[in-house]
This record gives sequence, structure tokens and C-alpha cells, in this order.
Amino acid sequence: MGVAVASAPAKVILFGEHFVVYGEPAIVLAIDKRAYAKVETRQDKKLFIQSQNLGLSAFFENGNIKVEKGDIKEARIKLEPIKCAVEKVLEKAGEKVGLTVEVNSTVPVAAGLGSSAAVAAAVAAAVGAALNIKMSKEDVFRVAFEAEKIMHGTPSGVDPAISTFGGAMLYQLDTGFKPLEVKAEVPLVVGNTGVERSTRVQVAKVRELTEKYPQIVEPMMRAAREIVLQAMEALKKDDLETIGELMNINHALLYGLGVSDESLEWLVNAARKAGALGAKLTGAGGGGCMIALATKDRLDKVLEAVQKAGAGAFVAKKTDEGVRIESS
Ligand code: MEV
Repeated sequence: MGVAVASAPAKVILFGEHFVVYGEPAIVLAIDKRAYAKVETRQDKKLFIQSQNLGLSAFFENGNIKVEKGDIKEARIKLEPIKCAVEKVLEKAGEKVGLTVEVNSTVPVAAGLGSSAAVAAAVAAAVGAALNIKMSKEDVFRVAFEAEKIMHGTPSGVDPAISTFGGAMLYQLDTGFKPLEVKAEVPLVVGNTGVERSTRVQVAKVRELTEKYPQIVEPMMRAAREIVLQAMEALKKDDLETIGELMNINHALLYGLGVSDESLEWLVNAARKAGALGAKLTGAGGGGCMIALATKDRLDKVLEAVQKAGAGAFVAKKTDEGVRIESS
């Protein structure tokens, strides 16, 4: 019993978002932006959750919620996945303990960088460490995946997987995740449109299109698969030019699925004009973030262009570390 802090990384999907929901492969990188969770045991049996980034805090007891900060409806929806992650770990422990959970994250929220999965993975690991329960990475992944289902409906699992295991990964529904050999440094600019959107809504939109035009969407799925296969080779060989071209094609497919929007197109074009090798939306789209690949000598120029186009932008580096205990 005690106190523990854990963290987990955000991610960018390099290739294959949305298509991954239908069984196609995706390539994902963990990046050097992390979500932190501090968990402390309490004397009472209450669960208190506080999220700095969401500006929300609330007590949970016997199915009731008492909001301390923020709007009750928002607290109920947005804190629910955190509550779920806590409860799943408590179930595993077979204990009923009061906990204070504080979440603090450097990952922009609802922007396609997997912030909710990073939070869920960090919370699961921190609860485990605070209660001295042995949690393997597999356990953390499973808990974070459950939490993600509450948030996003029918997620593929790609977000909790990369936040838990870190590095670079090939992810596919039927075969799960495989660590990916990435020789390339993949210098990326991440641009945030600032338009918050819901993954659930974007995934539902794609489902509608898929059901309406199966003969059209099916070849797009095959193209997305081929992009991933060729990208794997290019990543192995550090062939940035090919990776960039494939990103552009992937973006065009996502545009076709209806998940790009004006704010994303604006940033994607700004990056390409500034000399990016490739640019695409990342994550669910409909707003959120885009990524641009550039050679090292062009990176600052592309960053500047995306910022000038109005985005909160930063350079992302791949990180190998997934979920980790910071202190316990
Ligand atoms: C969200 O980061 C990626 C999507 O493919 C949804 C998912 O895989 O769960 C849009």
C-alpha cells in the first residue's frame, strides 16, 4: 500500500489508421510525449480522480459520482475510462481500496496522439505499483484496452498496445503487435489543428461508408495494406523518400474515406510546400493532428511552416520505452 507514479508514451500512426479497424496492418511509433499518473491509497474506500489536462476532478463511490471540479456530464464521460482502468486492476487484486488518482499529461487531448490510451496505461501501471500487484506489460495492455473500449466503441487496440510496449510496431487485429525494425530516424513534425474530435465518430463515419460502398472501399483496403508492406521495407532501409511518398498516398486514401478536413488539408499542404517528403493526417482525423516527414536539414523549415499555418507544432522523436514506473 502506498504511492506510485507511472508514465506511458503517446503515439503517431505512420500508416494504416482506420484500415486497421478492418484487419489491415498499421505501423505505429511511440513518441517522446508522455502521460503521467500518480496513485495514492486512501483511508476511506472512495476513488478520487483528478485530471489536470481535462480540468476535471470527481469522487466515485458505490456507483455515484460527486464532481469537485468541472461539468458533471463531462466528468462522467471523460473520467470513466480512468475509473475503468482503476477498477480492472482492483478486480485483479481482489481488493477494495480507496485511491487518489492524479493524471497529468504532456499529450494533447483528443488530437489523434493516443492520449486516452497513454493515460489508461499509466493509470493501470501506477495502481498496480501502489498496491504492490505484479502487473506484466500484457496485463497493463489488457486493462488499457478495456478502458479504451469505453472511450472509443470499437477500437483496434493499436493505441493501448503502443503506449504499453513503446518503440515501433506493426499492429494487426488477428496477429497482434510485432516489434518493427526501424533503421530510419523518421524525423517528424507533428501539427495539431486544435480541432478536437471524437475517434468514435470518425470510426463510425468510415463504417457507414464501408457498408455503403463495399466494392469501392475494398480496393482501398488492399492499397492501404500494400502501403504498409512497402513502408516496412523502406523503414528497414532508411529510405525516407519512399516513406514520404507512401505517406502522401496513405493520406489520399484517408481523404477518400472522408476523415480529413479543411484544417488538416491546410497543414498538410503547408508542410508539403515547405519541402516535406510526405505529410498525412495521423490517428482518427476529422481535426486532430497531422504528421510531416522531412530530412534533418528541412525539419526546422517544415516545423516553422506548419506553425505559421496556425498549428501547435513540435518535432516528435521515436521513443523505445513504453509504460514505465517512475517511482513507487
Ligand atoms: C486511432 O488512433 C486509430 C483508429 O484507427 C482507430 C483504432 O485503430 O482504434 C482511427
